[in-house]
Amino acid sequence: MGTDKESRINQTGITNDSGSILIKRCTSEDLEGVISVNEKELPEDYPYFFYKSILDNYNESFLVALNTKGRIVGYIMWRVEKVPAKDSLKILNKGHLVSIAILKKWRKFGIATALLTESMKEIVKHGIDEYVLEVRVSNYPAINLYKKFGFLTKNIKYRYYRDGENAYYMIKKAIEDL
Ligand code: ACO
Ligand code: ZN
Repeated sequence: MGTDKESRINQTGITNDSGSILIKRCTSEDLEGVISVNEKELPEDYPYFFYKSILDNYNESFLVALNTKGRIVGYIMWRVEKVPAKDSLKILNKGHLVSIAILKKWRKFGIATALLTESMKEIVKHGIDEYVLEVRVSNYPAINLYKKFGFLTKNIKYRYYRDGENAYYMIKKAIEDL
């Protein structure tokens, strides 16, 4: 059992023929379901300890979407990275969108929008300067989603993925949200 805070449920109002969707914080018991969605929907897989360390360190912004049967149909996870700024002595705090995925059957219902909206409110509390992410240059649905949230392409990371595909490095200043 999680604490009240951990298990707080957010009613989304998102429904399709298979029922409605709830959003809540991820717990250790949910990791298996998260990993299963990741393995089905994205070629980038991570070892269990990687998910666990994100869960331990950034739990407030690690969210899952559940259907009425309690099955995980989507997730989002972030971490914070401290990086020296290129043009000053400042250390930049970046909220890095590590991964988001929704099962095919549940796409285009606004679940990613709900997960991003809720998790960005949490990761910004770490005092980040900007939200950052990488996305495959061919991934139009995801690129559109990020543009809708105000992300801009800062540069291209060449051969970023193991199969050689390039990534867009997209950022959104966090100050706009404070
Ligand atoms: N074609 C074009 N634009 C799309 C599409 C699509 N098929 N799907 C979503 N979008 C864009 C649109 O701008 C849409 O807004 P609109 O409905 O007003 O047109 C916006 O995204 C929001 O759509 P949602 O319904 O909230 O998105 P969904 O729940 O379907 O999830 C996601 C989008 C996460 C990209 C989903 O397609 C998915 O899981 N894809 C596979 C995994 C993936 O690529 N993840 C991102 C990898 S990059 C990373 O994790 C940092
Ligand atoms: Zn990344």
